[in-house]
Amino acid sequence: MNILLLGSGGRESALAYKISRSPLCTRLFIAPGNGGTEAYGTNIILKPTDFEAVAAVVERENIDLLVVGNEDPLVAGIRDFFATRKPDLLIVGPGADGAALEGSKDFAKEFMTEMGIPTAAYRSFTAETLAEGEQFLATLNPPYVLKADGLAAGKGVLILPTLEEAKASLREMLSGMFGGASATVVIEEFLSGIECSVFVLTDGHGGYRVLPVAKDYKRIGEGDTGPNTGGMGAVSPVVFADNEFMKKVEDRIILPTLEGLGRRGIDYRGFIFLGLISVEGEPMVIEYNVRMGDPETEAVMLRIASDLVPALVGAAKGDLADVELAHDPRAAVTVMAVSGGYPGSYPKGKLIEGLDSIDTDATVAFHAGTTRNAEGNLVTSGGRVIAFSSLGDSVEEALSRSFKAIETVDFDGKYYRRDIGSDLLRLAATIS
Ligand code: AMP
Ligand code: GLY
Repeated sequence: MNILLLGSGGRESALAYKISRSPLCTRLFIAPGNGGTEAYGTNIILKPTDFEAVAAVVERENIDLLVVGNEDPLVAGIRDFFATRKPDLLIVGPGADGAALEGSKDFAKEFMTEMGIPTAAYRSFTAETLAEGEQFLATLNPPYVLKADGLAAGKGVLILPTLEEAKASLREMLSGMFGGASATVVIEEFLSGIECSVFVLTDGHGGYRVLPVAKDYKRIGEGDTGPNTGGMGAVSPVVFADNEFMKKVEDRIILPTLEGLGRRGIDYRGFIFLGLISVEGEPMVIEYNVRMGDPETEAVMLRIASDLVPALVGAAKGDLADVELAHDPRAAVTVMAVSGGYPGSYPKGKLIEGLDSIDTDATVAFHAGTTRNAEGNLVTSGGRVIAFSSLGDSVEEALSRSFKAIETVDFDGKYYRRDIGSDLLRLAATIS
């Protein structure tokens, strides 16, 4: 079959890598892709939210299966667009109704509250209810969690240490700090614990598969310090997400989520990303996303032992019943090499050298922010540049492979975190 994957990040590199290995995949197109995805298929330059442009590629290349990597086209209704334009196109990704789980934090919180899914206590406010918002803040303990309701490119969550700062940020958010995305602000109770990412592929008819669990590392600095990034690395499996924890996740979160979607008449076919926090062993939902995580996907794909394409087709068709999705018992990690200055401003166009020398049996270099310059050389084009992903018999072994590869590759300003996974290794030492 012919497959079109939308997106351009490390996540899409990992999905393209995995899809391209399937005997069911005849031709793979990645739109727009990046400087590395051309190793797995054909890049097509377009904006994933330009549905007419996507439709033109679907027609021209006889696409059978559309896999939507990033959330923007889903929230903007790409599934709904094709439901009328080309009803027989198989699509992985929910319609705008299901995508609201990520597109509106207020919707997600209201959904979880109705379904009894464990999450932080919250209330939502608008400019009209600013005074009540300030009063509500005063009833909470610090730190204060403020979330823009809509999509804000991953930047819409503020955690403030004092009541004064929280009130000031609430005013700023409601007066357009994130444009329309913060016209409504969710204020919620701060939860203290350790986070992990659980990915569920669903077929909209009660069928689902849980993918390997991962933990990502969001802050730029070692020891989880400094500003948030799109993600500096990921580790799978996650030591505290054991069978007992995952049983709670299944019973208290996954099943009620699927049942709730059904009850609301939402035919959700695609990935649900549960951003979870373990509060003294009890899983609670921090957020839903309607796509895979980045950089978790760069580790998770290495741990899927089965062909992914039958699972994607099963989800898109509404029938995952006979689909096998086996997990590789080994550990996988990804370590992200980023541009100096990221997540602030950073230079682009830096020459990337040494990629040909890495041990490709040990490590896969998933490109994120790379492109070819006019001379055809590979250069940096984003903050997160390459995700170095490895399997190993242990997390330590996988990490040492990724660190070795990352040291082999160079570009001006290269930075990475050397402590990816070290918290989990410390935790594992206390458990065993
Ligand atoms: P989100 O964009 O919703 O994933 O939030 C970004 C990050 O903020 C999360 O990964 C958490 O680390 C943190 N966060 C969000 N909500 C809370 C909360 N209620 N309590 C503690 N930390 C939170
Ligand atoms: N790694 C977190 C995310 O993809 O949102």
